[in-house]
Order: sequence, then structure tokens, then C-alpha cells
Amino acid sequence: MIGRLAPPWDRLLLDARLATLRDDLGAYGVIEDGALAWKDGLIAFAGPRGELPGEPAALAARVESAEGRWITPGLVDCHTHLVFAGDRAQEFERRLQGASYEQIAREGGGILSTVRATRQASEEELLAASLPRARALRADGVTTLEIKSGYGLDFDSERKMLRVARRVGEELGLTVRTTFLAAHALPPEFAGRPDDYIAAACGWLPRLHAEGLVDAVDAFCEGIGFTPAQTRRMFQAARALGLPVKLHADQLSNLGGAALAAEFGGLSADHIEWTDEAAVRAMAAAGTVAVLLPGAFHVLRETKLPPLAELRAHAVPMAVATDLNPGTSPLQSLRLAMSLACTHFRLTPEEALRGATVHAARALGLHDRGRLLPGQRADVVQWEVAHPAELAYWLGGDRVHSVHVAGRRVD
Ligand code: NIG
Ligand code: FE
Repeated sequence: MIGRLAPPWDRLLLDARLATLRDDLGAYGVIEDGALAWKDGLIAFAGPRGELPGEPAALAARVESAEGRWITPGLVDCHTHLVFAGDRAQEFERRLQGASYEQIAREGGGILSTVRATRQASEEELLAASLPRARALRADGVTTLEIKSGYGLDFDSERKMLRVARRVGEELGLTVRTTFLAAHALPPEFAGRPDDYIAAACGWLPRLHAEGLVDAVDAFCEGIGFTPAQTRRMFQAARALGLPVKLHADQLSNLGGAALAAEFGGLSADHIEWTDEAAVRAMAAAGTVAVLLPGAFHVLRETKLPPLAELRAHAVPMAVATDLNPGTSPLQSLRLAMSLACTHFRLTPEEALRGATVHAARALGLHDRGRLLPGQRADVVQWEVAHPAELAYWLGGDRVHSVHVAGRRVD
């Protein structure tokens, strides 16, 4: 690795302030008067300028000044449903008038109304509807994102969603990790037959996987979703293919979802407002990341907080994501999700930044990004801020100077 990353480098940035997120350097892993270099898409140097192994001009084909800007790893949005058609603004109005998310779902609205719109859309229409949302995330510093299926709920429509998710990544120069979430809601053609639906969805998985469309498997384990037993069947289908799992767990009630995710060695348990301490312990033992989704908490005006003290006590890594979706979290900024995580869940701005970088990468099973370290991918954001805490402080606004993915500028 070292030999491969030896100078000459492709690019060297001087006068940089690095928030490396290394654990051995104190808050944010800060390096003042830093230098950052990359080669062949990987970080080759991230350290104090004084430790450069020679004169800058002799080290890289291109040497530039970052003019004192703060630089972080590219942000990672590890939980989105950003491929969908239509919107749910009317449902938003109904909820403001007192209808609950569950009530709307039981009436056939909610997720199923997005399913109707998504089934009707062609692949091109779905791509056109989804690209602006991914562009918005990228403009705010996101270089890797996860996108779930789950608004198709039949083989062709789930496949269409996953294909669009892959195309979003290709069009925008971002890494997209796809997650199969057919167990999101019961489609009308299977009304009253959830077990049959799960069996059908488990049958689609090998075919979609064979097409290279699935990186992980998820389910909505909830009273208005699927039971733990049905979730388990979906997880077994994933395991048979060697696919990792993650779970919408314990969002509205405690069905033991987080513990189930941990039992399967899950990458993450997401939402987890109602998760108890025994399940947190199981997550810690299994290395399952807690994905906090403050956007959904905020929009649904929830009051039950995730078990933050327990997560900290058992050192469970906490990630923060947008949950970008048309129903519970029409949130198109990961920085805003970080801000909401601080305000609602009392994360520190540093925890929020680690949650949107290194811990989020881990929630996707990615260990090659999330920190500014030699050998990691050169996914790098330069920011117009005076301190990294500002990344979780501003509500909106444009704070990005530039975004590089694997050393290539994409913004
Ligand atoms: O993460 N809870 C289920 N899934 C989404 C909501 C999807 C929707 O309402 O369209 C979530 O909150
Ligand atoms: Fe979600």
C-alpha cells in the first residue's frame, strides 16, 4: 500500500485544516496547518505540512492551497429511500390536522400511495424524479449514499427501483449502496396474505442479487409492517446469499427488532426509538451500528427518544442519516439531519459528524472511507466554515466549497 501511494501524487493540498476523525488525535482528529494528498483515488498523505517527505513541488503533479479551509471525509448518508415517484404533501397536511402516520397507513395511504405512483412511473421518469434529490445531498457534501427499494413491492417494480438507484450513482459520480426492502408494506394484491407475500419477496431476492442489484436486505418490522417471524424469513433468505442485513427496528413500538438485527449480525438497526437495553447490549456484542433518523422523529413529532445513554454506555457506534423519503422524512440535507440529531437527541456536533462519516460507512459495511487516512478513498469535502461544529449548527445554507469522490471533483 505504502509503495503504491508513494509520491509523485496526483494532487497535494496545502494550507488545509483537517478534521481527520482519527481517534488518536482528540476532538475531530484535527490537524492544523495540514496537507492532504491523493493518488489513484486514494488518500496518500493526511498530516501536518511539516511532515511532508519533501518539497511540495517535487511531491505532486498539482499543488494547491486550500486557503485555510476545513476538510472532512465525504459525508455518508447510510439510510435513504430517495428513489420514488410523487409526493405526500397532502398526507403531511392531514397529519398536521391530527391524523396519525399509522392511521393513514391502515387506510391504504402512506407507503402504499407512493407504491401506486412508483409502479406507474417508467424507469426514466423515476430516474428524473430521483436525481435532483441525490444532487441535493451531493451539494451538501454527501459522497456515498444508500438507497432502498420498497415502493415497488412486485418483482418488476422493485427491480426498476434498484436499477434507478444504481443509475443515480453512475450519473452523479457517487457511490450508491442498494438495499432490498420489499418487506416495507403489504401490497394490495397480497391483502390478508402477508406470509405469502414474504415468500414471494424472498423468491425475488436471488434473481435481483444475480443482476448485481442488491448490496443488503432490510425490512420494516412493525405493527403496520411485518412481524419478527416474517422479518426473520427475509433475513434467512439474505443469509442464504451471503447478503448483510439491516432493519427498520423499534420505531413505533418494541417488537424486538434491534435484537433480531443483532442476532443476524446485522450491519445496523435503524430508528430504534423503542429499543431496550438488552437489545443495545446485543447490538454492541454483534457490532451492529445504531442508525439514528432524527428527520422522521421530527416530522412525526415523536417524543420517545432512542436509548442514547445505553448506546453510549455500551459503546455502540451511532450513525446519523436523512431517511430521505416522501412520508416521514422529506429531508434532503445530511447536515440538517446532523443538526436535528444534536437538537433532538443531544448528540454533540462531533458525534453527529462521526455519525455521518465513519460510523455511517460502517453501517453500510464500508471500511475504506469515513476518515482522512492514507489508504482510504479520496472522498473529500472542503467546507466554508470556521470550525467543524458549524457543520451541525447551520440549518440550511450552502457551506460546501468542493466535493471530490475518489479524487475526482463531482460538484
Ligand atoms: O424509514 N418506516 C418505514 N419506512 C420509512 C417511511 C417510508 C414512508 O413513509 O414512505 C421510514 O420512516
Ligand atoms: Fe427508512
